[in-house]
Formats: sequence, C-alpha cells, structure tokens
Amino acid sequence: MKTQILLANGENISKCGEMIRAGEIVAFPTETVYGLGANAFDALATDKIFKAKGRPATNPLIIHVSDKSQIGQVAEVDSLSEMLIEALMPGALTLVLPKKDVVPSIVTAGNDTVAVRMPDHPVALSLIKEAGVPVCAPSANTSSRPSPTTADHVYDDLCGKIPVILDGGKCPFGLESTIINMTETPPRVLRAGSVDIAEVEQIIGSVNKSSVMTDQLSELKKPMHFVPQAELVFSAYYEGMSVTINSYFDRMTMAGRRPIIFCMNSNAGKYDDRAVMSMGDTVKAYAGSLFEKIREVEKNHDLIIAEGVPLGGIGTTLLTRLMKLSNGNVI
Ligand code: TXA
Ligand code: MG
Repeated sequence: MKTQILLANGENISKCGEMIRAGEIVAFPTETVYGLGANAFDALATDKIFKAKGRPATNPLIIHVSDKSQIGQVAEVDSLSEMLIEALMPGALTLVLPKKDVVPSIVTAGNDTVAVRMPDHPVALSLIKEAGVPVCAPSANTSSRPSPTTADHVYDDLCGKIPVILDGGKCPFGLESTIINMTETPPRVLRAGSVDIAEVEQIIGSVNKSSVMTDQLSELKKPMHFVPQAELVFSAYYEGMSVTINSYFDRMTMAGRRPIIFCMNSNAGKYDDRAVMSMGDTVKAYAGSLFEKIREVEKNHDLIIAEGVPLGGIGTTLLTRLMKLSNGNVI
C-alpha cells in the first residue's frame, strides 16, 4: 500500500472524512500526538487500526468527538463527568465512562466502558465533523514506539501500512492526554498526561492518584511495552544528579556505547563536553519534546541518559513516561 502525506487543507480534510466514512483509516494531528482514526461504529475499519499498529486486541481505543453532544451517543454521562466536559473539553482530557451498545466491542477491547475525548485541534475537529461519525483512534505509532508528534514520525512507523496521513504540522503538546476513569468513586487517574491533574481536582474535588506510577509498572509486565530504539535510563531528581549522570556517561562510553544526556537548558553546563540534548527551560517543554527528541537522537546514539524532574504537575506525567520508556531503569 502506498502511504500519501496530504497537507491538512479544507479539500484534503473533507477527502479524509469521506475515507473514514467509507471504512478507511486516516492518521491525523491532535493537540497531543497524532492519532490513527477510523469510524468508531465500524468494527471492520477499527480492525485495520489494530493490524497497522501491531496493537494487541486487548488494548482499547479512545473515541474522539467534534462536539460535546456526541459524547452521549457513545457513553453514559454522569453529573461529575458533565462538569469536566463543560470545563475542560475540548482539551487533552480523556474520560472513561460506561459504554453504550452502539459502540462495537473491538473498540473497547470487550470492556463495558469506553474512553472519550474531544481534541482541541482545528484539523482533528474538522476531520471528525467531515466524517460525520465519532472517530476511534490510538496514537499513530507502531506499538512499542514513542507516540508520533509530526507527520514524518507517523510515516517512519506506518509507511506502507496506512493509506493516508493528514499533515497538520507539529502537535502543540507533544504528550498524550490525561485519562480519568469516571466509573470509580472517587474517579481514578489511569494515565497522567497533558492536562495537569490539579486542574481536574479543582473542578471535581480529589481523585484517586494511587495508580499513576504503579500502573506504569504493571504495563511493563505486558509483552508489548513501550521502548525506544535507543536504550533509555533516567536519574532520580536530586541536587547533584549531574555527578551520577556524568560518571554513568563515562562508564558507558568506555564500554563502547554512544550515550547522550537529556537535560534542562539550565543544567547543560554541568555536563562539560559530553553529548547533551537541551530539552527546554521548563518541565513542560521537556515533557512536550521528549518523544520528538528520542526519535531524533536514536539515529546517532544508542543510549539516552535522561535527567529526572521533581514530582508534581506535568513533572509527574514526564516521570511516568520516563519510567515506561526505560522499563523502570533508574540509575
Ligand atoms: O492524546 C491521546 O490520548 C492520543 C490522541 C491520539 O488522542 N491517543 C492515545 O491513544 O494516546 P492510545 O491508544 O495510544 O492510548 C490510550 C490509552 C491506552 O493505554 C488504553 O489502554 C486506554 O487509553 N484506554 C482506552 N479505552 C479504555 C477503557 N475503556 N478503559 C481503560 N483504559 C482505556
Ligand atoms: Mg499509544
């Protein structure tokens, strides 16, 4: 199959909407990462997503809507969820809700709940509108690769496996959505993501955060975990972590490895003439460029040594991703 990259203009968006209606799959940008979408009511089309990604059938998909009222078509919405939908959608927040029967079980991997979000990205919203149906989509990477934040990343992973990629440029956040399971009391955070959990708690009160880190660890036991081509390790965050990182870097270099350090801009000077990648001035910038920088450096380096960051806010999200990418390998 030839994979076309189409600029996300009006004509191409409507062409892609038609393709989705006709049972095809389309990669498209959102504010978090690129998604690989199909008509959420079409089990055969959805199956193409699992095949293209090599995704286990046990891993359910998120349904994307272009209008808040569409959420009620696929899920039962309670009053607490209603408050989050009002306040934070469109946005990088995914709610897990009781599913309605119209949603085929392949989308939810047989679960009686469904994950739903309304992306805050003009191309994603127009595409879903043009398709005229809710669009189920996982991240548009091959399973076990970092989520794609540009059309080129999608192409690198899925060339020859999908017909079309809508190119809407770089994803503004570069990090997946925050997922909250609203069917538990209190609601439970299933994945820390681009929306700070504190923002959610301001609206609905305190949520269960106990599995934010441990769930990532249980993920590691699954056969298809999330690994970059270059090995990744990371340091816990503490005063003086640069000393540990430097000595690890030197040992690995001596052993014939080609390491690179991921660090905050303000720390770059602590690593002398060792290879470093500055990840930005803020934890948010670091988190948002992580996937992109991994794909960039893995061409020339076989080991990434990442600085840790303090827990809290997007720092927590970043640590869960580092935990997953490193298989828990903390130096
Ligand atoms: O930002 C995002 O969320 C991106 C963009 C494309 O929207 N999507 C994304 O999808 O990251 P994916 O499939 O890569 O990750 C979705 C996660 C998976 O870990 C899946 O297990 C979980 O959501 N999930 C989906 N439906 C669920 C459900 N009914 N119950 C619990 N977890 C669910
Ligand atoms: Mg994914």
